[in-house]
Amino acid sequence: MGRRLRPLLLLCASLLAATSLPAVSATADTGVRSGQGTAHGPRSLDEVIPAPASVRAKGKPYTLSPRTVIRVSGGHGPGRDRVRGHGRGKKGGHDASSGARQVAEQLADLLRPATGYRLPVTTRPGRDGIHLRLSGERGLGPEGYRLHVTERATVLSAREPAGLFHGIQTLRQLLPAAVEADSTRPGPWQIAGGTLTDKPRYAYRSAMLDVSRHFFPVDSVKRYIDQLALYKINTLHLHLSDDQGWRIAIDSWPRLTTHGGSTQVGGGPGGYYTKADYRDIVRYAADRHLTVVPEIDMPSHTNAALASYAELNCDGKAPPLYTGTDVGFSSLCVPLERTYDFADDVIRELAALTPGPYLHIGGDEAHSTSEEDFAAFMKRVQPLVAKYGKTAVGWHQITAAPRRGTIAQYWGYDETGAEERAQVAAAARNGTRLVISPADRSYLDMKYDKDTPLGLSWAGYVSTERSYDWDPATYLDGVPERAVLGVEAPLWTETLSTSAQLEYMAFPKLPGIAELGWSPAATHDWDTYRVRLARQAPRWDLMGVNYYRSPQVPWDG
Ligand code: ACM
Repeated sequence: MGRRLRPLLLLCASLLAATSLPAVSATADTGVRSGQGTAHGPRSLDEVIPAPASVRAKGKPYTLSPRTVIRVSGGHGPGRDRVRGHGRGKKGGHDASSGARQVAEQLADLLRPATGYRLPVTTRPGRDGIHLRLSGERGLGPEGYRLHVTERATVLSAREPAGLFHGIQTLRQLLPAAVEADSTRPGPWQIAGGTLTDKPRYAYRSAMLDVSRHFFPVDSVKRYIDQLALYKINTLHLHLSDDQGWRIAIDSWPRLTTHGGSTQVGGGPGGYYTKADYRDIVRYAADRHLTVVPEIDMPSHTNAALASYAELNCDGKAPPLYTGTDVGFSSLCVPLERTYDFADDVIRELAALTPGPYLHIGGDEAHSTSEEDFAAFMKRVQPLVAKYGKTAVGWHQITAAPRRGTIAQYWGYDETGAEERAQVAAAARNGTRLVISPADRSYLDMKYDKDTPLGLSWAGYVSTERSYDWDPATYLDGVPERAVLGVEAPLWTETLSTSAQLEYMAFPKLPGIAELGWSPAATHDWDTYRVRLARQAPRWDLMGVNYYRSPQVPWDG
């Protein structure tokens, strides 16, 4: 794999000057796909990432004031006359009405610092203010929402709290970027008039974080979750084990973390999540309507486990810990019965920590496992995932050992052989659902160009435009559209060890993958997208996001 570069170079990277391209003018054909807000009024309703499904501009804007209230209604019988103050929101509510109230509190928490307004959350009915409404409205699905803005009120309705949550991300993006500030700004705080109706193209919109090559503490993961939520990503895939480190406590095999988690690429101290840490991440993600998909990569990418337990090795000898960046050299011992005790214990404990439906079992780059052994291993391990109530996800090599219900994640690229693609397509035609994450499009750790000081380039350079300009539905020949469950933006961390470095590779490419996952194909247009993307920058500046100023984006246009 690619060479590792010194993190200090990041400092230089963030100083790289971008060449600004002129802003592209509005497209005349639709009238609403302009991405052009007015200079002084509120930004237009379509100036959002991911692009909304349908937008109709109409009437005067809504203006927040010191008297604005946030009203919650719908769900299971809201109480009457209750006003909730700052910070008293119930977290992790189980029914719909507490879920709606939680979203209302999240909106208030978002808006209070910059506006300086009190913004009480109330279930008291009224015609003014910002309304968050759970309604039986058809057609929005579990994650869709409708935003109706008039001079008197802003009404956000959805079938489920997840829809309201995605809706407040839109509302947030429609307000001036200064709303992200952590201290009072002057405003005015206006939202353009009209109606926006929105729901996702795909149910599975994922980002992967490799916490194995370099360990990232809980707070770094939470910071990334916050960034994902802004773009309506609903899945966080955590790559919890690899050759360089095992990062999740497994009580029945304690040396996995105490030994296997004790280092990382380059030889740093590594680290791991206790079960309490992991539950904290899962809860934090759930509060932002993201599902965590944990991955234990097997049968290769297992040196950390093999180093921790001699009994897992065919020769009974534990190899040393590994801090380099090679791949494909390790393998669990497929003929050994103990291997399946290990897999059973790990999957059982991980499934118990996982409220979501999926558990990822890896399966990539098993170059030290024979084809027969790989198939035999996957044949035994996939049923273990089902035994503990989860649906297995595997990298697309798992289609060599097809099992009904298993989801395959395609990570090939332009040089992936026709036979390999055909195997995946055949599985898809036979009912395997696919998550599409082409390495030369959606891998956030691929360098933007030859000068990018971080990242790898084994799948080529992936510029911001290249990562946006493809279609998950047609990317793989011979795959029926219904087989595509969604998309993912993986972020591998051989060269990345801080949040600033993660952000430098994820921004500005991540919002483009989020848009591919959410927005209807008909909205897909690089020329208008890059204008919308540029307008996210003042927001990132206030959020402290360390983005790369790609010369393909008209940042100051
Ligand atoms: C992978 O990039 N090896 C899944």
